[in-house]
Amino acid sequence: MQQVELLIVHAAQLVTCASSVPKRGTAMRDVGLIVDGAVAVQDGRIVAVDTTDALIANYESDHTIDVSGKVVCPSFVDPHTHLVYAGKRLDEFEQRIQGTAYLDILKAGGGILSTVHATRAASVDELVESALKRLDIMLKHGTTTVEIKTGYGLDTETEMRMLQAIERLHQEHRIDIVPTFLAAHAIPPEYRGQLLDYVELIVTEMLPMAAEWYQNSTFKRDGIPFFIDIFCEEGAFDIEATRKIFDAGRQYGLELKAHVDEFVNLGGARLSSEMGATSIDHLDHTSDEEIVLLGQSDSVAVVIPAVNFNLGSCHFAPARQMIDANVALALTTDANPGSAPCYSMPMVMAIACRYQKLLPAETLNASTINAAHALRLAGQVGSIEIGKRADLLIMDTGDYRDIAYQFGINLVQAIFKDGKQIV
Ligand code: NIG
Ligand code: FE
Repeated sequence: MQQVELLIVHAAQLVTCASSVPKRGTAMRDVGLIVDGAVAVQDGRIVAVDTTDALIANYESDHTIDVSGKVVCPSFVDPHTHLVYAGKRLDEFEQRIQGTAYLDILKAGGGILSTVHATRAASVDELVESALKRLDIMLKHGTTTVEIKTGYGLDTETEMRMLQAIERLHQEHRIDIVPTFLAAHAIPPEYRGQLLDYVELIVTEMLPMAAEWYQNSTFKRDGIPFFIDIFCEEGAFDIEATRKIFDAGRQYGLELKAHVDEFVNLGGARLSSEMGATSIDHLDHTSDEEIVLLGQSDSVAVVIPAVNFNLGSCHFAPARQMIDANVALALTTDANPGSAPCYSMPMVMAIACRYQKLLPAETLNASTINAAHALRLAGQVGSIEIGKRADLLIMDTGDYRDIAYQFGINLVQAIFKDGKQIV
């Protein structure tokens, strides 16, 4: 009999989402369900997963939790957020309700640029304090790994301050953070009409500093990768700028991510997959041909139905078609003050089921194991598998499909991070 630090037994459904590769096609419908399931944890890692009968034949613990009638599942991974920022965008929210388009607000110097204005005026302490509160909300809704982008500085000093804030969040909050450098989020006001000059500044000044920061950061020590991202969009960065930023990012050892086809298709999905991007995000206006390409590539497609919902649009990314075309699909909140003030992965799953015609099982895999692959962290998190960190949720339901079926409520009853109950 092996003694372990934690045993969770008698889960009505233990949902593992296990897979060593991103799930594709019909594998997305398989959540790795074990009826009357159990998990054993030692040193914060999962050491056994099985039915309760099989597991308690070999393991015992002074800390055994009976979760009869409940679902146990991996905690959520949110692979695309803009969580560090200052200020609010409530006026813009009202403008959009009254008919002004998101990109028109940006063109007029508002939108992302209004958050840039507020963020440039904020201290690192202020940025950290407000983001910690947002992370608390995410944690309560079951998320324990979150990617966070810069991109509201757009000058060297503020972009570096955002990176400092992101590192402090990683040190001060229980959630694990993954950093992404997004200086190519918008053209700053002082470079209006001078796209090439701004790209030059990113490549020759900002990126080298960011790369050096990463080398000395806790992220590097913790084995967490550093990404570079770009908003490839009309009114933001064109395809040539995207290629340049990606080339430079690669040279400095960063992994690639991209915002493409959110409003207008500039060919960013093809370029990003050709350049080996880890994830390609948004994809609302991606062509049938490009979807076939994505199905053959290693890039994870991260779709963001919370943005369409928030912008009052019924034009969603063709996620059903993508899964059917073998694309490795993940979901995210895109938490940000403009296009998606959303902190809850279950809310995103609820929208994806209704408007993108995904099954609850597909949304769960897309929010756990595939989202972990979108961050190159699937060796550590995203599923309940032997050797992985014991990051898991106990849900107040006996059927995992409830997570996407019910909405506007929070079914998370308990959260375990590295085997320790934290909520
Ligand atoms: O993913 N589209 C570009 N970036 C974000 C929005 C950020 C903002 O509106 O502040 C997005 O939608
Ligand atoms: Fe985004």
